[in-house]
Amino acid sequence: MQPENPHLPFLLFLAVAAVAAGEAAASTTLTASPAKLTPSDHEIKIRWSGLPAPDGLDYVAIYSPPSSRDRDFIGYLFLNGSASWRDGHGELSLPRLPTLRAPYQFRLFRWPANEYSYHHIDHDRNPLPHGKHRVAVSGDVSVGDPARPEQVHLAFADGFDEMRVLFLCGDGGKRVVRYGLEKEDEKEWKEVGTEVTTYEQKHMCDTPANSSVGWRDPGFVFDGLMKGLEPERRYFYKVGSDVGGWSETYSFISRDSEANETNAFLFGDLGTYVPYNTYHRTQTESLSTVKWILRDIQALRDKPALISHIGDISYARGYSWVWDHFFSQVEPIAANTPYHVCIGNHEYDWPSQPWKPWWTAGIYGKDGGGECGIPYSVKFRMPGNSNLPTGNGGPDTRNLYYSFDSGVVHFVYMSTETNFVQDSEQYNFLKADLEKVNRTRTPFIVFQGHRPMHTTSEEARDAALKQQMLQHLEPLLVTYNVTLALWGHVHMYERFCPMKNSQCLNTSSSFQYSGAPVHLVIGMAGQDWQHTWQPRPDHPDVPIFPQPERSMYRGGEFGYTRLVATREKLTLMYVGNHDGQVHDMVEIFSGQVSSNSSVAKAVDGTKLSTGVSTVRKITPLYLEIGGSVLFALLLGFGFGFLVRRNKEAAQWTPVENEESLEMVNIEMVNNKYGQIGAE
Ligand SMILES: *[C@@H]1O[C@H](CO)[C@@H](O)[C@H](O)[C@H]1NC(C)=O
Ligand SMILES: *[C@@H]1O[C@H](CO)[C@@H](O)[C@H](O)[C@H]1NC(C)=O
Ligand SMILES: *[C@@H]1O[C@H](CO)[C@@H](O)[C@H](O)[C@H]1NC(C)=O
Ligand SMILES: *[C@@H]1O[C@H](CO)[C@@H](O)[C@H](O)[C@H]1NC(C)=O
Ligand SMILES: *[C@@H]1O[C@H](CO)[C@@H](O)[C@H](O)[C@H]1NC(C)=O
Ligand SMILES: *[C@@H]1O[C@H](CO)[C@@H](O)[C@H](O)[C@H]1NC(C)=O
Ligand SMILES: *[C@@H]1O[C@H](CO)[C@@H](O)[C@H](O)[C@H]1NC(C)=O
Ligand SMILES: [Fe+2]
Repeated sequence: MQPENPHLPFLLFLAVAAVAAGEAAASTTLTASPAKLTPSDHEIKIRWSGLPAPDGLDYVAIYSPPSSRDRDFIGYLFLNGSASWRDGHGELSLPRLPTLRAPYQFRLFRWPANEYSYHHIDHDRNPLPHGKHRVAVSGDVSVGDPARPEQVHLAFADGFDEMRVLFLCGDGGKRVVRYGLEKEDEKEWKEVGTEVTTYEQKHMCDTPANSSVGWRDPGFVFDGLMKGLEPERRYFYKVGSDVGGWSETYSFISRDSEANETNAFLFGDLGTYVPYNTYHRTQTESLSTVKWILRDIQALRDKPALISHIGDISYARGYSWVWDHFFSQVEPIAANTPYHVCIGNHEYDWPSQPWKPWWTAGIYGKDGGGECGIPYSVKFRMPGNSNLPTGNGGPDTRNLYYSFDSGVVHFVYMSTETNFVQDSEQYNFLKADLEKVNRTRTPFIVFQGHRPMHTTSEEARDAALKQQMLQHLEPLLVTYNVTLALWGHVHMYERFCPMKNSQCLNTSSSFQYSGAPVHLVIGMAGQDWQHTWQPRPDHPDVPIFPQPERSMYRGGEFGYTRLVATREKLTLMYVGNHDGQVHDMVEIFSGQVSSNSSVAKAVDGTKLSTGVSTVRKITPLYLEIGGSVLFALLLGFGFGFLVRRNKEAAQWTPVENEESLEMVNIEMVNNKYGQIGAE
């Protein structure tokens, strides 16, 4: 970019620092390869050389599309990620990036320390690069083919014999879904069409979503409904078209309205792993959560399962490309298992959101980064038809409240960001929905929303909203015998006793349903920032956080929960990401008898009211998860389900040592083959 004038570098050297930086451009080179990533390329290599007098803040910024202005990078990497950076050359690598429907480009910048500015900062208050003093530009790098479908994810639809699939392409041309029972026999597969939607920059409600920094082409979202599915069969499917190309073949287990067992993975506040610095901190821990859930899904083999992500989903907050990373990251679980969501503050809240009573003034802020629920509403499609106009001509907010049955559990989702008070549409929906649950069919109800109705974390801001939730919604949960109430937003795990008016009805971790729900906070899936627990009221400044009696277990470890339910018992386990093992659990008996006589018999032998030994108390769990784990154990997947030998784990008694652990496993195997009937 500099003219070939031999005197110019010298003249520039004498000039101001900003211009001196430009001098290097004559000799500094930056390359990025490969120029076109094929499906088997998993890495982008960025190399530079000839950078004179490198400085500790020099960086490579990442752009897409290549026409972006210097200040509109999507992220950056410091050169010091390469050991040789002080010598003026080096190499950085990035894992395969999402397609983004446009090529990437990389640019090398100097960032003199005296230009560090605390006016332009990221969300950790670190200065952000300003995109001045560019010294080299790479060639374009395109990842995959934007016409080819990506970001495939499933969800239950309204019919039991249906499964919905959503996916993204760079253009809005015709795409279809093909599906069938025989993997190899695609000629016999059925085909259904898709609906396609997108949204525009002018629909975004605030910065950064509506600005050139945050906005990128979101592509087109395709929505196909597979119908006429036979119950509990493995279906194979792919999406796309002959013109634009096809996805790989995925599979899922169809729903069965008669199923006597439910498996689910539930969490909030997962977020996204992004392999470079961007405008805010991203959630590296989400990688582990997805990894362990994938292990668990594989261990279930041919049993159906579902995933429930209760708000604060990608944490894109107006930086469009973070959604692309998110859907690529969860695709290995979401393309094979229905992925259900409810709305969180980080998908929605913006200054002019339509419902904002005085007691939400301090908390309904700008957490959505101007997205105002639109990417959430277009990129997901949940059952039901709840919707609310955004108020600016953009797509309505949908997926606010809905419910479905899966096996023996009725799952309900609500929105804590839109009107839920008595006589609101949402309240009326929730009341009518809970009223008509057939408890013979689904003895358990799992109710979910984003902001917690109960938590002992020190989050004072949410107090007024919590109060309103207690006043308007808790009576519904108690009246309609909700089994579990799950919340996110607080990035920790907390399990309460079953309670009414904050009073415990039972302080055991294994009990017959006692007339009120067990509340749990499960926002520990990936986001890190969090208040601590409430300190002592009389010593608010001393870091001691007494655990009230109603709070049965509190955990700070990242992880997720795993639900296993049969007709007579629901078990919820907290799996930690550190080791993939169970740290806490609660078992709730419905009072119904299992339709499976061998399980029923084993459970009868352990009636908790008779105060049997702790070893027998825990046996039903092993029987319960035994069916799903047995093959996994044999395959070597099983280690994750073995209950951690952790003394502080609530009130159920963990297995004492390796020996007894082995014994239980043998019992499990025997039970599987019916050799040991009763204990
Ligand atoms: C690289 O530089 C950045 C910015 O000064 C700094 O935060 C980071 O710790 C450095 N990393 C290494 C490996 O030195
Ligand atoms: C983004 O939205 C905010 C709030 O409506 C508005 O003030 C701002 O001008 C918008 N920015 C752009 C680039 O449209
Ligand atoms: C409830 O479900 C059971 C079991 O599926 C069924 O037999 C019964 O008819 C249902 N009751 C109502 C009122 O629909
Ligand atoms: C809730 O459970 C109680 C018994 O614990 C029962 O009397 C009541 O009828 C149940 N209510 C509903 C709506 O199922
Ligand atoms: C708690 O539940 C257990 C098991 O169902 C039962 O034995 C015990 O009596 C219950 N405690 C209270 C206070 O109801
Ligand atoms: C569930 O149990 C009922 C009652 O025993 C039985 O009729 C039904 O076939 C079972 N469902 C499955 C999928 O096994
Ligand atoms: C009942 O449990 C046994 C042993 O765990 C298992 O082999 C069988 O498949 C189960 N039957 C049903 C209908 O779930
Ligand atoms: Fe939140």
